[in-house]
Amino acid sequence: MAERRIGVIINGATGRMGTVQHMGNLLAIAAEGGLPLANGDRLIPELLLVGRDAAKLKALAEAHGNQRWTTSLEEAFAGPDKIFMDCAATGGRPARVKQAIAAGKHIFIEKPTAPTVEEAMELARLADRAGLKHGVIQDKLFLPGYGKLLATSKAGFFGRIVSVKIDAGSWIFDGTGDEECQRPSWNYKKAEGGGLALDMMAHWRYMIDRIASPVTGVFALMNTAIPERVDEQGKRYKVDAEDTNYALIRLQNGAIGTICNTWAARPRRDDTMVVQIDGTEGSAVAGRWKCFTQSAAETPEAFIKAAKPGGVDLMADWKEVPDVPGLKNPFRQCWENYLRHVAGEGPYLPTLVEGAKAVQLADLAYRSVAEQRWMDVPELKL
Ligand SMILES: NC(=O)c1ccc[n+]([C@@H]2O[C@H](COP(=O)([O-])OP(=O)(O)OC[C@H]3O[C@@H](n4cnc5c(N)ncnc54)[C@H](O)[C@@H]3O)[C@@H](O)[C@H]2O)c1
Repeated sequence: MAERRIGVIINGATGRMGTVQHMGNLLAIAAEGGLPLANGDRLIPELLLVGRDAAKLKALAEAHGNQRWTTSLEEAFAGPDKIFMDCAATGGRPARVKQAIAAGKHIFIEKPTAPTVEEAMELARLADRAGLKHGVIQDKLFLPGYGKLLATSKAGFFGRIVSVKIDAGSWIFDGTGDEECQRPSWNYKKAEGGGLALDMMAHWRYMIDRIASPVTGVFALMNTAIPERVDEQGKRYKVDAEDTNYALIRLQNGAIGTICNTWAARPRRDDTMVVQIDGTEGSAVAGRWKCFTQSAAETPEAFIKAAKPGGVDLMADWKEVPDVPGLKNPFRQCWENYLRHVAGEGPYLPTLVEGAKAVQLADLAYRSVAEQRWMDVPELKL
């Protein structure tokens, strides 16, 4: 058994994702003695934290066992570290990834991989032609609730899937009152990679493709419900990106669906992100943690009985899918799969082509809004 060390550059280390999900999970793998590989070796990630603010980086690095850090991406690219993780703010990601590819780094990046499908596919082609291992974070199907929904679908529970319904979002404060805005201000600025559709369609695409059927068409309607906000410095700014995205979708198997995603609604449901699949043999509703099913045989009469107050308890005839014990953090699972791929043990399924498919749905939704028409979703090839 040998210890193999692998250097990972984390660009955007002081951000929410950078600190909690990427640095946090990689340090946890290292603290356990590394990732066990099939041949008995252990792969130990060694981090290089990168960001723009030296004081914040230094403090972060020191608080987590004196990790290496730098404010110079160029310096990081010139060094020996093998993997580049970009989890900085979305804006400018393609340029950073191109630099990393030119430096021969394996690429593992946050979603969305680029602002347009053309740029996203360019990254996929460049990484592929350079013979680099590439992947994008697709964490949601590793969440317990959506994992159970995927397993329910794979087991054939739904029969013929007829519809998909996504209801997601919560109220994001504008920062003018007592509550701070919960999302970074770049989320609300187009030039910095903001926009709810670009942010979240990336998740909906792979979730729908894999749980139900590939998306073949989209028609979208967007809005900026809250046009002015207060940023991290307490300054007011104009929002020029959408905070609401409603979309109709068509799926390859003939099913249809809706995506209602907004940061300007107060949810009254089980979770802020709820996905419902309806099929001829059964339905399921999942949030991040829980998943409930109702089979055809358990379906109550809810047309005539529901027409009088208290006539039918619509929540009664659902069964909770049992938890799978011992699940690891979703980002940790993404990292373990990707590290095994880099070590030559198996594929990593969400490649940059999958990342581009996710961007494609957002891109087509924006074009649907601009042209006020349905957009077909063409197949993407390297
Ligand atoms: N997979 C997921 O579920 C998930 C969830 C949230 C965010 N994300 C993605 O992760 C990325 C980071 O999101 P976050 O919520 O951690 O944001 P954040 O604002 O908390 O962190 C972003 C980091 O990038 C830095 N930064 C800001 N502007 C920059 C610029 N122009 N150049 C370089 N660095 C810059 C910030 O200082 C900060 O360190 C985004 O691409 C976002 O879409 C993914």
